[in-house]
Amino acid sequence: MKDRMKEATQARRIVRDAGIILLERHRARDLGTIEHKDSVTDLVTSVDREIEALILTKLRQAFPGDAILSEERGQIGDNGARLWILDPLDGTKNFVHALDCFAISLALVVDGIRELGIVFAPALGKEFWAVRGEGAWLGEQPIRVSQTDSMEEALFSTGFACLRSGRSPNNLSVLPRVLRIAADIRRHGSAALDLCYVAYGRTDGFWELGLSPWDVAAGSLIAEEAGGQVTDFHGKDDFLYGRNLVTTNGRLHEPLLGEITRGLAKS
Ligand code: 2AM
Ligand code: CA
Repeated sequence: MKDRMKEATQARRIVRDAGIILLERHRARDLGTIEHKDSVTDLVTSVDREIEALILTKLRQAFPGDAILSEERGQIGDNGARLWILDPLDGTKNFVHALDCFAISLALVVDGIRELGIVFAPALGKEFWAVRGEGAWLGEQPIRVSQTDSMEEALFSTGFACLRSGRSPNNLSVLPRVLRIAADIRRHGSAALDLCYVAYGRTDGFWELGLSPWDVAAGSLIAEEAGGQVTDFHGKDDFLYGRNLVTTNGRLHEPLLGEITRGLAKS
Protein backbone atom coordinates (compact mmCIF):
# COMPACT_ATOMS: atom_id res chain seq x y z
CA MET A 1 0.00 0.00 0.00
CA LYS A 2 3.02 2.24 0.52
CA ASP A 3 3.56 2.03 -3.24
CA ARG A 4 0.04 3.24 -3.88
CA MET A 5 0.57 6.25 -1.60
CA LYS A 6 3.78 6.97 -3.47
CA GLU A 7 1.91 6.77 -6.78
CA ALA A 8 -0.70 9.10 -5.32
CA THR A 9 2.00 11.66 -4.50
CA GLN A 10 3.37 11.46 -8.06
CA ALA A 11 -0.08 11.69 -9.67
CA ARG A 12 -1.17 14.54 -7.38
CA ARG A 13 1.86 16.55 -8.44
CA ILE A 14 1.06 15.98 -12.13
CA VAL A 15 -2.55 17.06 -11.62
CA ARG A 16 -1.60 20.08 -9.50
CA ASP A 17 0.93 21.33 -12.06
CA ALA A 18 -1.68 21.05 -14.82
CA GLY A 19 -4.23 22.73 -12.55
CA ILE A 20 -2.00 25.77 -12.22
CA ILE A 21 -2.00 26.19 -16.01
CA LEU A 22 -5.77 25.66 -16.10
CA LEU A 23 -6.20 28.37 -13.46
CA GLU A 24 -4.01 30.76 -15.46
CA ARG A 25 -6.20 30.24 -18.54
CA HIS A 26 -9.32 30.76 -16.41
CA ARG A 27 -8.05 33.99 -14.84
CA ALA A 28 -6.90 35.37 -18.18
CA ARG A 29 -10.22 34.29 -19.78
CA ASP A 30 -8.00 32.50 -22.28
CA LEU A 31 -10.27 29.75 -23.60
CA GLY A 32 -8.44 29.24 -26.88
CA THR A 33 -10.86 27.94 -29.47
CA ILE A 34 -14.24 26.49 -28.57
CA GLU A 35 -15.55 23.58 -30.61
CA HIS A 36 -18.81 21.70 -30.51
CA LYS A 37 -18.62 17.93 -30.35
CA ASP A 38 -21.71 15.86 -31.24
CA SER A 39 -24.18 18.62 -30.40
CA VAL A 40 -24.25 22.39 -29.93
CA THR A 41 -24.34 21.94 -26.15
CA ASP A 42 -21.41 19.53 -25.99
CA LEU A 43 -18.34 21.76 -25.84
CA VAL A 44 -14.63 21.22 -25.95
CA THR A 45 -12.07 24.02 -25.78
CA SER A 46 -8.46 23.97 -26.84
CA VAL A 47 -7.70 24.28 -23.12
CA ASP A 48 -9.29 20.82 -22.58
CA ARG A 49 -6.87 19.47 -25.17
CA GLU A 50 -3.87 21.42 -23.88
CA ILE A 51 -4.35 20.17 -20.31
CA GLU A 52 -4.97 16.65 -21.59
CA ALA A 53 -1.73 16.65 -23.64
CA LEU A 54 0.23 17.96 -20.67
CA ILE A 55 -1.04 15.29 -18.29
CA LEU A 56 -0.71 12.49 -20.85
CA THR A 57 2.95 13.34 -21.42
CA LYS A 58 3.73 13.40 -17.71
CA LEU A 59 1.77 10.23 -16.97
CA ARG A 60 3.65 8.37 -19.69
CA GLN A 61 6.96 9.58 -18.26
CA ALA A 62 6.06 8.66 -14.69
CA PHE A 63 4.22 5.41 -15.40
CA PRO A 64 5.56 3.98 -18.68
CA GLY A 65 3.57 1.03 -19.99
CA ASP A 66 0.31 1.98 -18.27
CA ALA A 67 -2.76 2.48 -20.47
CA ILE A 68 -4.65 5.78 -20.36
CA LEU A 69 -8.31 6.45 -21.16
CA SER A 70 -8.99 10.16 -21.54
CA GLU A 71 -12.07 12.04 -22.67
CA GLU A 72 -10.79 13.79 -25.77
CA ARG A 73 -8.15 11.28 -26.91
CA GLY A 74 -9.82 7.98 -26.08
CA GLN A 75 -7.71 5.01 -25.05
CA ILE A 76 -3.94 5.01 -25.39
CA GLY A 77 -2.00 1.81 -24.78
CA ASP A 78 -2.97 -1.81 -24.41
CA ASN A 79 -5.61 -3.27 -22.20
CA GLY A 80 -3.16 -4.20 -19.48
CA ALA A 81 -3.82 -4.42 -15.76
CA ARG A 82 -3.24 -0.71 -15.11
CA LEU A 83 -5.44 2.01 -16.59
CA TRP A 84 -5.44 5.73 -15.82
CA ILE A 85 -8.79 7.43 -16.49
CA LEU A 86 -8.56 11.17 -17.13
CA ASP A 87 -10.98 14.04 -17.62
CA PRO A 88 -8.68 17.02 -18.21
CA LEU A 89 -11.56 19.43 -17.67
CA ASP A 90 -14.79 18.35 -16.01
CA GLY A 91 -17.30 21.17 -16.04
CA THR A 92 -16.26 22.63 -19.40
CA LYS A 93 -19.45 24.66 -19.62
CA ASN A 94 -18.66 26.37 -16.30
CA PHE A 95 -15.14 27.04 -17.53
CA VAL A 96 -16.45 28.61 -20.74
CA HIS A 97 -18.79 30.83 -18.70
CA ALA A 98 -15.99 31.83 -16.29
CA LEU A 99 -17.65 30.03 -13.39
CA ASP A 100 -15.30 28.48 -10.85
CA CYS A 101 -16.78 25.00 -10.60
CA PHE A 102 -14.51 22.92 -12.85
CA ALA A 103 -11.89 20.29 -12.13
CA ILE A 104 -9.29 17.89 -13.41
CA SER A 105 -10.24 14.30 -12.61
CA LEU A 106 -7.69 11.47 -12.65
CA ALA A 107 -8.08 7.89 -11.43
CA LEU A 108 -5.97 4.75 -11.47
CA VAL A 109 -7.81 1.49 -12.09
CA VAL A 110 -5.91 -1.77 -11.53
CA ASP A 111 -7.51 -5.04 -12.66
CA GLY A 112 -10.83 -3.24 -12.94
CA ILE A 113 -10.68 -1.83 -9.39
CA ARG A 114 -10.46 1.91 -8.72
CA GLU A 115 -7.37 2.29 -6.56
CA LEU A 116 -6.60 5.99 -6.59
CA GLY A 117 -8.61 9.12 -7.37
CA ILE A 118 -7.77 12.82 -7.60
CA VAL A 119 -10.18 15.69 -8.29
CA PHE A 120 -8.50 19.10 -8.34
CA ALA A 121 -10.58 22.26 -8.70
CA PRO A 122 -7.96 25.01 -9.01
CA ALA A 123 -10.37 27.98 -9.05
CA LEU A 124 -11.96 26.70 -5.83
CA GLY A 125 -8.53 25.98 -4.35
CA LYS A 126 -9.64 22.44 -3.51
CA GLU A 127 -7.79 19.20 -4.09
CA PHE A 128 -9.69 16.02 -3.22
CA TRP A 129 -8.00 12.63 -3.35
CA ALA A 130 -8.37 9.09 -2.10
CA VAL A 131 -6.48 5.81 -2.04
CA ARG A 132 -8.47 2.58 -1.73
CA GLY A 133 -8.41 1.32 1.84
CA GLU A 134 -6.50 4.37 3.10
CA GLY A 135 -9.12 7.14 3.20
CA ALA A 136 -10.09 10.37 1.45
CA TRP A 137 -8.67 13.85 1.91
CA LEU A 138 -9.24 17.48 1.04
CA GLY A 139 -5.62 18.59 0.74
CA GLU A 140 -4.09 16.98 3.83
CA GLN A 141 -7.34 16.96 5.83
CA PRO A 142 -9.32 13.66 6.10
CA ILE A 143 -12.94 14.03 4.94
CA ARG A 144 -16.20 12.27 5.86
CA VAL A 145 -19.72 12.24 4.46
CA SER A 146 -22.61 13.91 6.31
CA GLN A 147 -24.79 12.29 9.00
CA THR A 148 -28.13 13.52 7.62
CA ASP A 149 -30.75 10.78 7.73
CA SER A 150 -33.97 12.52 6.71
CA MET A 151 -34.93 13.41 3.17
CA GLU A 152 -36.55 16.70 4.35
CA GLU A 153 -33.18 17.90 5.64
CA ALA A 154 -31.15 16.57 2.72
CA LEU A 155 -29.42 18.72 0.12
CA PHE A 156 -28.85 16.82 -3.13
CA SER A 157 -27.20 17.67 -6.41
CA THR A 158 -27.80 16.35 -9.89
CA GLY A 159 -26.92 17.05 -13.50
CA PHE A 160 -28.21 16.64 -17.02
CA ALA A 161 -25.53 14.96 -19.11
CA CYS A 162 -28.35 12.64 -20.22
CA LEU A 163 -30.07 15.42 -22.15
CA ARG A 164 -26.98 15.94 -24.26
CA SER A 165 -26.74 12.24 -24.98
CA GLY A 166 -30.40 12.39 -26.11
CA ARG A 167 -31.31 9.71 -23.59
CA SER A 168 -34.79 8.62 -22.79
CA PRO A 169 -35.94 8.23 -20.08
CA ASN A 170 -34.05 11.13 -18.64
CA ASN A 171 -33.56 12.98 -15.41
CA LEU A 172 -36.48 15.37 -15.95
CA SER A 173 -38.83 12.71 -14.60
CA VAL A 174 -36.80 12.23 -11.42
CA LEU A 175 -35.97 15.85 -10.60
CA PRO A 176 -39.45 17.07 -9.49
CA ARG A 177 -39.93 14.06 -7.21
CA VAL A 178 -36.73 14.75 -5.30
CA LEU A 179 -37.31 18.52 -5.31
CA ARG A 180 -40.69 17.99 -3.64
CA ILE A 181 -39.40 15.96 -0.69
CA ALA A 182 -35.80 17.09 -0.14
CA ALA A 183 -34.53 20.31 1.46
CA ASP A 184 -33.26 21.50 -1.91
CA ILE A 185 -31.25 20.69 -5.00
CA ARG A 186 -28.06 22.13 -6.47
CA ARG A 187 -26.72 21.75 -9.99
CA HIS A 188 -22.95 22.26 -10.13
CA GLY A 189 -22.18 21.16 -13.70
CA SER A 190 -19.25 18.92 -12.76
CA ALA A 191 -20.02 15.32 -11.85
CA ALA A 192 -16.51 14.87 -10.44
CA LEU A 193 -17.08 17.74 -8.00
CA ASP A 194 -20.66 16.64 -7.23
CA LEU A 195 -19.15 13.38 -5.93
CA CYS A 196 -16.61 15.30 -3.85
CA TYR A 197 -19.30 17.54 -2.32
CA VAL A 198 -20.95 14.36 -1.02
CA ALA A 199 -17.56 13.04 0.15
CA TYR A 200 -16.87 16.06 2.34
CA GLY A 201 -20.37 16.35 3.69
CA ARG A 202 -21.46 19.54 1.92
CA THR A 203 -24.28 17.73 0.15
CA ASP A 204 -25.97 14.49 1.20
CA GLY A 205 -26.30 12.81 -2.18
CA PHE A 206 -25.96 13.14 -5.96
CA TRP A 207 -27.34 11.27 -8.95
CA GLU A 208 -27.01 11.59 -12.70
CA LEU A 209 -27.73 9.66 -15.90
CA GLY A 210 -25.63 9.41 -19.03
CA LEU A 211 -22.21 9.86 -17.44
CA SER A 212 -18.90 8.59 -18.77
CA PRO A 213 -16.11 6.78 -16.89
CA TRP A 214 -13.87 9.89 -16.81
CA ASP A 215 -16.64 11.88 -15.09
CA VAL A 216 -16.92 9.45 -12.16
CA ALA A 217 -13.82 7.23 -11.82
CA ALA A 218 -11.96 9.45 -9.33
CA GLY A 219 -14.88 11.08 -7.51
CA SER A 220 -16.65 7.77 -6.85
CA LEU A 221 -13.60 6.40 -4.99
CA ILE A 222 -13.28 9.65 -3.04
CA ALA A 223 -16.96 9.39 -1.99
CA GLU A 224 -16.58 5.72 -0.98
CA GLU A 225 -13.39 6.30 0.97
CA ALA A 226 -15.11 9.16 2.82
CA GLY A 227 -17.76 6.70 4.02
CA GLY A 228 -20.31 7.25 1.26
CA GLN A 229 -22.18 4.72 -0.84
CA VAL A 230 -21.99 4.68 -4.65
CA THR A 231 -24.12 2.44 -6.86
CA ASP A 232 -25.85 2.25 -10.22
CA PHE A 233 -29.65 2.61 -10.34
CA HIS A 234 -30.10 -1.09 -9.46
CA GLY A 235 -28.14 -0.66 -6.25
CA LYS A 236 -25.27 -2.59 -7.88
CA ASP A 237 -21.74 -1.48 -8.69
CA ASP A 238 -21.93 -1.08 -12.47
CA PHE A 239 -21.53 2.70 -12.38
CA LEU A 240 -18.05 3.18 -13.89
CA TYR A 241 -19.04 2.11 -17.39
CA GLY A 242 -22.79 1.80 -16.76
CA ARG A 243 -23.51 5.54 -17.28
CA ASN A 244 -25.91 5.97 -14.33
CA LEU A 245 -24.73 6.71 -10.81
CA VAL A 246 -26.18 7.54 -7.41
CA THR A 247 -24.12 8.40 -4.36
CA THR A 248 -25.18 9.32 -0.83
CA ASN A 249 -23.88 9.42 2.73
CA GLY A 250 -25.21 5.84 2.98
CA ARG A 251 -28.14 6.70 5.28
CA LEU A 252 -30.11 8.24 2.42
CA HIS A 253 -29.25 5.69 -0.25
CA GLU A 254 -32.44 3.63 -0.10
CA PRO A 255 -34.83 6.62 -0.09
CA LEU A 256 -33.02 8.46 -2.89
CA LEU A 257 -32.68 5.34 -5.02
CA GLY A 258 -36.40 4.70 -4.46
CA GLU A 259 -37.33 8.15 -5.81
CA ILE A 260 -35.05 7.66 -8.83
CA THR A 261 -36.52 4.23 -9.63
CA ARG A 262 -40.12 5.44 -9.29
CA GLY A 263 -39.40 8.58 -11.33
CA LEU A 264 -37.83 6.65 -14.19
CA ALA A 265 -40.63 4.06 -14.18
CA LYS A 266 -43.22 6.83 -14.71
CA SER A 267 -41.31 8.57 -17.52
P1 2AM B 1 -17.73 17.68 -19.05
O1 2AM B 1 -17.76 19.04 -18.51
O2 2AM B 1 -16.39 17.03 -19.00
O3 2AM B 1 -18.40 17.56 -20.41
C1 2AM B 1 -22.59 17.85 -16.14
O4 2AM B 1 -23.84 17.43 -15.76
C2 2AM B 1 -21.62 16.70 -16.09
O5 2AM B 1 -21.88 15.80 -17.17
C3 2AM B 1 -20.18 17.11 -16.26
O6 2AM B 1 -19.40 16.26 -15.47
C4 2AM B 1 -19.93 16.96 -17.75
O7 2AM B 1 -18.59 16.71 -18.06
C5 2AM B 1 -20.74 15.72 -18.02
N1 2AM B 1 -21.22 15.65 -19.41
C6 2AM B 1 -21.66 16.62 -20.17
N2 2AM B 1 -22.05 16.18 -21.38
C7 2AM B 1 -21.85 14.86 -21.37
C8 2AM B 1 -22.06 13.84 -22.33
N3 2AM B 1 -22.56 14.09 -23.53
N4 2AM B 1 -21.74 12.58 -21.97
C9 2AM B 1 -21.23 12.33 -20.75
N5 2AM B 1 -21.00 13.26 -19.81
C10 2AM B 1 -21.32 14.52 -20.11
CA1 CA C 1 -14.32 17.00 -19.90
